[in-house]
Amino acid sequence: MRMRKQAIEDAVARVRRNMDAFGGKFPHVGSGGGPYERIENEDWTNGFWPGMLWLCYEYSGDGAFADAARKVTESFRQRLEHNTVLDHHDIGFLYSLSAKAEWFVLGHEDARELALRAADKLMERWREAGGGYIQAWGPAGDEAQGGRIIIDCLLNLPLLFWAANETGEERFRQAAVRQAELTRRYLVRGDDSSYHTFIFNQENGEPIGGTTHQGYSNGSTWTRGQAWGVYGFALAYRYTGDQAYLDTSKRMALYFLRRLPEDHVAYWDFHAPVCPDTYRDSSASAIVAAGLQELLEHLPADDSDRSELWSGLTASIDSLIERYSTMGDPEAEGLLRHGSYYVRGNIAPDDFIIWGDYYYLEALMRLERGIRGYWYPPQADRGGRA
Ligand code: GLY
Repeated sequence: MRMRKQAIEDAVARVRRNMDAFGGKFPHVGSGGGPYERIENEDWTNGFWPGMLWLCYEYSGDGAFADAARKVTESFRQRLEHNTVLDHHDIGFLYSLSAKAEWFVLGHEDARELALRAADKLMERWREAGGGYIQAWGPAGDEAQGGRIIIDCLLNLPLLFWAANETGEERFRQAAVRQAELTRRYLVRGDDSSYHTFIFNQENGEPIGGTTHQGYSNGSTWTRGQAWGVYGFALAYRYTGDQAYLDTSKRMALYFLRRLPEDHVAYWDFHAPVCPDTYRDSSASAIVAAGLQELLEHLPADDSDRSELWSGLTASIDSLIERYSTMGDPEAEGLLRHGSYYVRGNIAPDDFIIWGDYYYLEALMRLERGIRGYWYPPQADRGGRA
């Protein structure tokens, strides 16, 4: 479709302009609709910028994007060597879209080794209690953060699945499978909605209960959490072939799509009261647009929900382009307006957020050009195990 091609061209031109503007720093969230807040390599969000650079390189073949992305990999090497703010599970987001992407795209051995070291680092978050789990945040034994898993972790698991395949070390796969299984069992509810986080007793692993951090309430469904579930379970299926993950991804996707407002872009929480001022989370819809493509690639051709999922995908992506993107506004640094990071904490409740930009670009490039992001190796053919 012409509009989608224009949207990609516009996005690639914007990323090119931003390479100079960001000057070696990392875009994080917008500043009230203005320029991106620039940060050092010390947050969970730093991988999305190199991920966008790699997508632009694959799309355009322009070496300037690859040169910039490789410099960023070097910054990630320093980060791992100095252990800079890595006491969280988002090591998977960080190193999948930087070092692992460089290995996938350019085949550089030192980038592969760095990504494998990052997988080892992520394994430091493994806690043995009650059969084992990956603790999301904070140090082991932490009173507030210990015992917590969160649904976002599903997108960290591809780093472990990939490391298992690369090294033959089963510990990576066992941890990833156990975490995906716990997430399916405790974070996804019977009606296909989801908790954001779930707490286990740190001593014995007994389940305590579901809570939220960024959602509207403990029992609500934070739309971005649901989106991580759609994409994350489809990826867990790709790596394991376990039908339960594919079914869960599909059920979560249908829950998501059937609760969208008229313009097909999600509010920030499915249980937030809707009034004219209710914030959207365009990033949740961008993640789902990328995740639906992974899901659709695995679903059988005669699956009765295919056409609903496909219509949901195209309606969402076209609405993001038409109503939420900055296409045609040369001043804007971000690609997608109206993302929400943390509404109750009043942190970027309605702004550019860099992961929204990344998934929007990934979804568009996969749809139009078959460029699929960096969650599994490019040689994992359609429907094949990664
Ligand atoms: N993974 C953090 C977030 O989605 O805000």
